[in-house]
Amino acid sequence: EVNNLDECYKVAEELVLYAGKIIEDGIDTKKNVKSKGIDWDLVTEYDRKIENKLIKQLSARFPSHKFIGEETAAKEGRLPQLTDDPTWIIDPIDGTTNFVHRFPQTCISLALWVNKEAEIGIIYNPLMRQFFSARKHCGAFLNGKPIKTSDVRDVSQSLVAMEPWIAKNPEYLTSIYSRMHALIQGTHGIRSLGTAALTLCYVAMGAVEAYHIESIDAWDVAAGKLIIEEAGGVVIDTAGGELDIMTPRVIAACNQQIAQQLVDLFKEADSEIVNKN
Ligand code: IPD
Repeated sequence: EVNNLDECYKVAEELVLYAGKIIEDGIDTKKNVKSKGIDWDLVTEYDRKIENKLIKQLSARFPSHKFIGEETAAKEGRLPQLTDDPTWIIDPIDGTTNFVHRFPQTCISLALWVNKEAEIGIIYNPLMRQFFSARKHCGAFLNGKPIKTSDVRDVSQSLVAMEPWIAKNPEYLTSIYSRMHALIQGTHGIRSLGTAALTLCYVAMGAVEAYHIESIDAWDVAAGKLIIEEAGGVVIDTAGGELDIMTPRVIAACNQQIAQQLVDLFKEADSEIVNKN
């Protein structure tokens, strides 16, 4: 039980704005880029700096709270378990590859989960000055103004975001191409931003109807899930059930109808692969 959620939100907001300045300062500099084992999973000194800063400040203010952070998990080589305890879930720079290439879609994602439910979600792109926020049962906001998901209900009339790079992983190669083929045929088009957290916000603000991604982690979706839900949308598992936040396979959509149509579309696309083999 956390009885100081207002204070948690205030501290989180201040810290994320501060972290935004670190991204702004870093974007035009020559970065020290390292790969985290696989060639396309990049990390810079800025990712580590922001995560360390957030954890240090939050644990000073809320000593009993726990943390699940992208860079700490990478360093320790293990994913902490999500418990009922208040837990801050942190992606210090989501869209690190964009950050490295100076593609201005990059953000900080910070969420507070309590009893395995999201209470606070903040995602901030300092380069485009987009500050997305939500608290449970209080709505979702962009720069303080309420946002709503799109009211399109027919997937053929939708714009859907996806990330083709996932096909670099042989495990996903055929399914990603086949699902993309289904989307090209069955929707207005595909868009790709290179940051899961911000793309979830684009669903929340009605800029795209849906987003599909697999092979990601809790910190990529922990804040965005709440922001979408508070904006009227849904975030479910690719197979149609409830999302498992610790191993997310995501269909995020403006409403349940679009989500279900995508579940069906992808099932059909996947079964075509099986039939061909
Ligand atoms: C990545 C981005 C990307 C998603 C990857 C993530 P990072 O986050 O969100 O859009 O497709 O799976 O790892 O590594 O830049 O924080």
